[in-house]
Amino acid sequence: MTSETATAAGSGRNATETFQKKARDAAGTVDTARVDAVARDALSALHDVIRRHRLTYAEYDALKAWLIRVGQDGEWPLFLDVFIEHVVEDVANADRKGAVGSIEGPYYVSGGPEFTGEGTLPMRDDEAGTPFLFQGTVTDLDGTPIDGAVVDFWQADDAGYYSQFAPGIPEWNLRGVCRTAADGTFKIHTIKPAPYMIPHDGATGALIEAAGWHPWRPAHLHLKVSAPGKQLITSQLYFEGGEYVGDDVAQAVKPDLVLHPVPAESGTGEQVTYDFALDPA
Ligand code: DHB
Ligand code: FE
Repeated sequence: MTSETATAAGSGRNATETFQKKARDAAGTVDTARVDAVARDALSALHDVIRRHRLTYAEYDALKAWLIRVGQDGEWPLFLDVFIEHVVEDVANADRKGAVGSIEGPYYVSGGPEFTGEGTLPMRDDEAGTPFLFQGTVTDLDGTPIDGAVVDFWQADDAGYYSQFAPGIPEWNLRGVCRTAADGTFKIHTIKPAPYMIPHDGATGALIEAAGWHPWRPAHLHLKVSAPGKQLITSQLYFEGGEYVGDDVAQAVKPDLVLHPVPAESGTGEQVTYDFALDPA
């Protein structure tokens, strides 16, 4: 046991640090015309909301206080990835012909333990959850299998917590990088995660409660699939019939991303086959 408990602020702080290290697309020049167009429209959309709802000074001050608190709680990565990222993902992947994408969320870490063809994700001896075999083939758009494609995989545990973001979980628990075998196949042995509750002890939870929304995401697996000369796809997979599959707070479920697991051939747990076709780069 650890004396620390998982909190939104704790997971949020770690997610903020991880994001800052990644410094995604931070370099580069500012295109003044682009900033003008996007910032102008964003502000104008907000102005319109204020007029339409006749926002009061009390409500404006509550908004200011809440925005300050999101930063203090370290929850900008969580908030943005839950409520905004799904539209960015839709736009980014609109022209793909192959595998369907979904949001990355705040809990990806590169550099997970690697294996080729088949392997078991690092997990605790007493890891809770139904044993689960996730397998498939990575191909190009014509269906030709890709040898040495990378399936970078991460997921929450059975309590909804991610290693490296919640305390007391071994560093690489339920994370791993599987390279496909010569025939393009991968087999990842893991456990089925449980539905995930957006941390509710911080600013994001305060908004969800104040608005009468619910804080749940359906149980999901995360992955990034890539190969030389192909576009990397970031996606998530869900479980047929799972709670919140039809009502994800992050609006990141698509019909093509819902898995239909069957009893495992090994006799223990469940398995599913799901293939990825990669678009050319
Ligand atoms: C968040 C958490 C996730 O696991 C995810 O996939 C997307 C968003 C979040 O807490 O913001
Ligand atoms: Fe997640």
